[in-house]
Amino acid sequence: MVIQSSAPSCEANRSRDVGGIVIGIESTAHTFSIGWVDGLGVPGKSVSAFVRPVEGGIHPREAADHHAEHAGRILRELLDNEVDIADVKAISYSQGPGLGPCLRIGASVARSLATQLDVPLVGVNHCVAHIEVGRERCDCDDPVLLYASGGNTQVIARLDGRYRVLGETLDIGIGNMLDKFAREQGIAFPGGPKIESLALEWLSENPNPSLEGLELPYAVQGMDLAFSGILNAALNLVEKGAPLPAVCWSLQEHAFAACVEVAERAMAHAGKSELLLGGGVACNERLRNMCDVMSLSRGATSHVPEKFLCIDNGSMIATLGRLQLLWGTPTKLDESGVRQDLRTDETPILWN
Ligand code: ATP
Ligand code: FE2
Repeated sequence: MVIQSSAPSCEANRSRDVGGIVIGIESTAHTFSIGWVDGLGVPGKSVSAFVRPVEGGIHPREAADHHAEHAGRILRELLDNEVDIADVKAISYSQGPGLGPCLRIGASVARSLATQLDVPLVGVNHCVAHIEVGRERCDCDDPVLLYASGGNTQVIARLDGRYRVLGETLDIGIGNMLDKFAREQGIAFPGGPKIESLALEWLSENPNPSLEGLELPYAVQGMDLAFSGILNAALNLVEKGAPLPAVCWSLQEHAFAACVEVAERAMAHAGKSELLLGGGVACNERLRNMCDVMSLSRGATSHVPEKFLCIDNGSMIATLGRLQLLWGTPTKLDESGVRQDLRTDETPILWN
């Protein structure tokens, strides 16, 4: 299968000015964030608040209450320190996918702001925003994307005006898997960064680590992935007495290698020579390093945006909002309802 591409150059998008600031509101799950881009798409600083459950996972209703509680303060902080309200040209927001109650808070804030300021409203696809912020920031035009976040693990390439999912997790997202493993060890959400530092601790004590006694199932099934088997096996290893830092190291090696293998196969099938990493798990240095090594070995390049743009943030929503404003039409109020199950490939990619 060779995927024909007609991807636009990022340069072409950046040379068009929308004539003002685009605000972006993110509220799909654990983060409520408002950020912005200027008329040429350069991202500003997001102001964010994060749900940090004391125990257990994220409860949609409680997270929505958190977002409602912090929305006013965050908006005030943004307007006091970052953005002149007179320059605002449009309001964009995450329309989906995500947790319904959380999405509805962001959409309500967006609708009221757009109405109050009498500017266009732009509903965007959260997953596509993770892609576009990376593409714009890293200057890669037509990549295979490895989108590794809490709720999503997808390998994506552009075809016929859509981002097509070539492979994805069949059960839980890689970040959720890391968070669940961490939670069972008494590590607070988000678990990914702590697992990364424990893995580094193991490496510093064992410069040439062995997988002996630390093997886990390998999660590749054709072009798809699965992580619940790895999670259970890793939990069993700890229960049987394996050192936690060692299991964290092994968990990263197995789970990341599986993602990178599928990404490499996608690059080969699709004939692409750029890899773009996105989503919260893309903050991980070991995953970044594996992507570099794989890309180098096949004469390709690997790209990843700054860490503050990998985790959920308002500026990535504004990045996509600006593109949709340039190339598409604003979202009508009666079509601005949230879409909990919005898929990556449902959103037309019009910019070229
Ligand atoms: P989506 O809706 O796109 O799935 P999300 O709600 O999961 O987004 P993100 O901010 O994209 O939110 O990703 C959060 C995830 O990233 C969490 O699971 C967290 O543990 C993981 N993460 C953050 N930093 C690291 C890191 N350094 N190493 C591994 N995982 C990380
Ligand atoms: Fe995300």
